[in-house]
Amino acid sequence: MASTKLLIDDVSMRFATPAGAFHALDHIDLAVPRASFVSLIGPSGCGKSTIFNIVAGLEEPSEGRVLIDGVDATGAIGRVGYMLQKDLLLPWRTLTDNIILGMEIKGVKLAEARARALPLLRRYGLAGFENAYPRALSGGMRQRAALLRTLLLDTDVILLDEPFGALDAQTRLRMQEWLLKLWEDFGKTVVFVTHDVEEAIFLSDEVHVMGTRPGRIIATIPVALPRPRLRACTATPDFMALKERCLGLLHIEAPADIEDAA
Ligand SMILES: Nc1ncnc2c1ncn2[C@@H]1O[C@H](COP(=O)(O)OP(=O)(O)O)[C@@H](O)[C@H]1O
Ligand SMILES: [Mg+2]
Repeated sequence: MASTKLLIDDVSMRFATPAGAFHALDHIDLAVPRASFVSLIGPSGCGKSTIFNIVAGLEEPSEGRVLIDGVDATGAIGRVGYMLQKDLLLPWRTLTDNIILGMEIKGVKLAEARARALPLLRRYGLAGFENAYPRALSGGMRQRAALLRTLLLDTDVILLDEPFGALDAQTRLRMQEWLLKLWEDFGKTVVFVTHDVEEAIFLSDEVHVMGTRPGRIIATIPVALPRPRLRACTATPDFMALKERCLGLLHIEAPADIEDAA
């Protein structure tokens, strides 16, 4: 059994609002094993992004702690890589120069940073676009660039908040396979937020299903499907059973949301 890389230890969050305290997270306990891939799924507003903001040190929890490698990292900035749904590439920089941004901020010299980035651009599906500007690229390519930038930050833990949410279905499937390859190559510990149950199961070692009001973890579902994962695994009875289980939990949690969406 791998050791714990990231530990969210009894974290609760209350936001001060004009209407009084809003209880956003209730006693979140989450142990993420080293080099594993875990997902959080749950209805919108259940606190997924708030958990990420706390782990990234952007918000202080009302209670509880965040530990990385057993060391208290609550409120510490720069200990994890964090990527939002929107790619946030700088339009005036080429792809290469966007990808090295994190290295540059850390003081790596420009020529060295570029030399480190180029083989990665080529290996991970961006060959030929090294000097292109973001506006010339497809949504999928921009997300690849943003993900590579996050990976090059030299942090062991990566938080991905619905990185494929805005992509079309076909591109999304290809991006999932691309991300798994990257994860296998880099050995990072990944926490992934998605609305898509199938995406969560396909990618993860463990899926944490969240409920709302207040946000909490209602179930942790281990995904024992073999790796490397091939797309065909999504048609197996084991995969379908996991999907049914997740959908059942989400339905119990948010029947009104599902009716609203219908
Ligand atoms: N700074 C804030 N002040 C008050 N309420 C907030 C703040 N940030 C988030 N919330 C509320 O906390 C809940 C969880 O938000 P969020 O973490 O963004 O959910 P999710 O990412 O799961 O959709 C939501 O009801 C949201 O409105
Ligand atoms: Mg969110």
